[in-house]
Amino acid sequence: LLASVIACAPMAVLAADLTIGFSQIGSESGWRAAETTVTKQEAEKRGITLKFADAQQKQENQIKALRSFIAQGVDAILIAPVVATGWDEVLEEAADAEIPVVLLDRTVDADKSLYLTAVTSDLVHEGKVAGEWLVSEMNGANCRIVELQGTTGSSPAIDRKAGFEQGIAGHDNLQIVRSQTGDFTRAQGKVVMESFLKAEGGENICALYAHNDDMAVGAIQAIKEAGLKPGEDIKIVAIDAVPDAHKAIADGEMNATIELTPNMAGPALEALEAYLADGTEPAKWIQTESKLFTAKDDNLAIFNAKKDLGY
Ligand code: AHR
Repeated sequence: LLASVIACAPMAVLAADLTIGFSQIGSESGWRAAETTVTKQEAEKRGITLKFADAQQKQENQIKALRSFIAQGVDAILIAPVVATGWDEVLEEAADAEIPVVLLDRTVDADKSLYLTAVTSDLVHEGKVAGEWLVSEMNGANCRIVELQGTTGSSPAIDRKAGFEQGIAGHDNLQIVRSQTGDFTRAQGKVVMESFLKAEGGENICALYAHNDDMAVGAIQAIKEAGLKPGEDIKIVAIDAVPDAHKAIADGEMNATIELTPNMAGPALEALEAYLADGTEPAKWIQTESKLFTAKDDNLAIFNAKKDLGY
């Protein structure tokens, strides 16, 4: 187990000599694509050789990639795990090979000794902030909410759902009437929103909570095609704060988003460099910030500034 790996400090390796494997989920969202770009940039900046594997949304591909990284004897592994369960065996294999693993942006249901650290936001908190924002926006008025969930079984889908429910708890005027996965993609966000509109009738839906901006952007299209005004007839709150969400807020078609930085690799590589240099153990959780953006912010300026950040 990694605990025993940590007990005997690793051989010092210079950053420029490091080879790190990165198992990425795929490119389901604008945020994901930005994370990939930023991770490659952060590795290059440090002179690290990054071996990149795109899992096309499949856990089995991620497990294969990890086994291949282990066989190649990489110095460390970064993984954004598509779902939360089913990692124990391959993480044990990495620990047996004394290869530290760092989780990026999502968590796993595995013993903490099996990975070095996790660089993630507080996923429950993000959902809670979204729920609390809607509570204050509705100011006691009744609201029937539809929810677009992320990928089934993924930690952000589980935690953002739980967090939102915490955020609206005790406010009986707010009620989630439909909740379904849109798999974090724009295309599915649109399809599922169309089905919500059909089943409920657009005028009976007061708000949409989407677990990411891409699904919200797809849903905006569906709402417009149904002859309704997104952001007015149906309030929209989502998560990520990608440039398109800032643009939608600036255009009055979306109301709020909570920022998730695509730069998980910066803190992850910093922690790995220190660990591999002299055994410095990072905190088990390196938490990234979550910031709420609403129409009160200068979303057009933020949109323009963010376009240069890897999106
Ligand atoms: O794990 C982070 C989530 O995954 C992002 O919110 C979403 O856009 C992505 O696909």
